[in-house]
Amino acid sequence: LGEMAGGVAHEINSPLAIISSLAQQMIETLNEKDAVPLNQLKKSLATIDRTVHRIAMIVKSLRSISRDGSRDPFVPTPVKAILDETFALCSERFRLSEIRLKKPTVPTDLRFSCRATEISQALLNLLNNSFDAVSETSDPWIEVTVEDKPNYIEIAVTDNGKGIPSDIQNKIFNPFFTTKEIGKGTGLGLGIVYRIMNNHRGKIELDLSSALTRFVLQFPKIP
Ligand SMILES: Nc1ncnc2c1ncn2[C@@H]1O[C@H](COP(=O)(O)OP(=O)(O)O)[C@@H](O)[C@H]1O
Ligand SMILES: [Mg+2]
Repeated sequence: LGEMAGGVAHEINSPLAIISSLAQQMIETLNEKDAVPLNQLKKSLATIDRTVHRIAMIVKSLRSISRDGSRDPFVPTPVKAILDETFALCSERFRLSEIRLKKPTVPTDLRFSCRATEISQALLNLLNNSFDAVSETSDPWIEVTVEDKPNYIEIAVTDNGKGIPSDIQNKIFNPFFTTKEIGKGTGLGLGIVYRIMNNHRGKIELDLSSALTRFVLQFPKIP
């Protein structure tokens, strides 16, 4: 959670900055103009209102994702809801670092039975690893894709980062394995994803057929 807290500050600070600057503008307008442009003020208030809702969504995601979801019941959940909740906690940080986050379009009725909190945690771990991996890439991007296959739902995270050397590929899922400096990596991220995927009778794989780093999560569709 400590690792996440710093990241989430960005998610909340950016919309706060929007609200603050709109409020400033409105104060200036009201101070200067004899005839107050009502339409402009209404537009600004609508933006403030929308931005407040965005912060509320971020806080909701944060509360959900920082829980221990490991004893939650399995509930049919829209994939889109899980992704929205996850992206709410990292989009802004990626944008500020100029990392392009390519989000999938997911049909609203695509759902599967899961512990949504755990799936968001797993995805966020993968996205955070990709974030670290692209830190020295020029024109960095991270892509999330969703595929509805006959027997399972597949969610994949691909990045154009530095890649995973073949001699450590069989170690990355081990708890405490990290190549990051002390204080930056715990080595727990992929181990947690692995455990969560086991809980869901699914699997995680590093896609060795991909030239870029690509992690694939497969969730069985239980009839
Ligand atoms: N997308 C990625 N690109 C490059 N290396 C990665 C990626 N994801 C994971 N790794 C490697 O796997 C290691 C273990 O990841 P993880 O379990 O999340 O621990 P941590 O991120 O704390 O190091 C990382 O230290 C890194 O070497
Ligand atoms: Mg990690």
